[in-house]
Amino acid sequence: MEHSWPVINLSSVDSTNSYLLRLIDTGQAVHEMVVNARFQNQGRGQNNNTWESDPCQNLTFSILLKPTYLKPSLMFYLNQAISLSIIDYLKDNQIFARIKWPNDILVGCKKIAGILIENSFLGDTYQYAVIGIGLNVNQELFPDLQHKAISMKSLLGKDLNLDIVLHRLLNAIHLRLKYLKRGDFSVIYDDYKQNLHLYQCWSTYKIKDENFKGKIIDVKPSGELCILLENGEVKEFLNKEVVFV
Ligand code: BTN
Repeated sequence: MEHSWPVINLSSVDSTNSYLLRLIDTGQAVHEMVVNARFQNQGRGQNNNTWESDPCQNLTFSILLKPTYLKPSLMFYLNQAISLSIIDYLKDNQIFARIKWPNDILVGCKKIAGILIENSFLGDTYQYAVIGIGLNVNQELFPDLQHKAISMKSLLGKDLNLDIVLHRLLNAIHLRLKYLKRGDFSVIYDDYKQNLHLYQCWSTYKIKDENFKGKIIDVKPSGELCILLENGEVKEFLNKEVVFV
């Protein structure tokens, strides 16, 4: 039987993540609820960036999870599982995407989806995770991001029904979360690395203003990226400590 998610559909909102956080604050949120908006006027991205998405063209939604089965130190697995579910969904549509560490979803070098996870912990317990996903579906022109963004429609040459896309993507998320719920982290961890952009490839990276050659050889369960340098040394990076050139 298919999993059922309670969905709130909004025509317009500031940000679905912010909306869901307000529902949590006022005690109105229920486990696994989904807030889906046709338009966000203050969509938020990682690192205080904005997330731009034309009205009624793309998916912008957030999910509330209470991953009590996950220790806060293992929260990166949630990141991996969500990234993989988008990869799975796109693959079902013949779109072969990769995960740019930590969780940008790319086709070639262009971004097709972004993920913003906002966590809350109480001591050593996961209280909740608000998982915000923006997936470019039918938008074809990205004025400020022409060489950086792409949509499903640009790749498939046809419009997609947003409700169906949401439904199928939620199914894919449910399937990946099952692994986490039963503590089967190794499948998630291995699949994440197999779908990682530039995994085991030599490429150029930048720290501060200095470029260097390196090869991604691992991602730690805590999320750090491990890059092998030309001198044989392996360096570990936290998000934003290293830039992909
Ligand atoms: C990123 O790549 O920077 C993350 C983008 C996340 C965007 C989604 S859209 C739905 C949810 N609501 C938000 O305000 N942001 C996330």
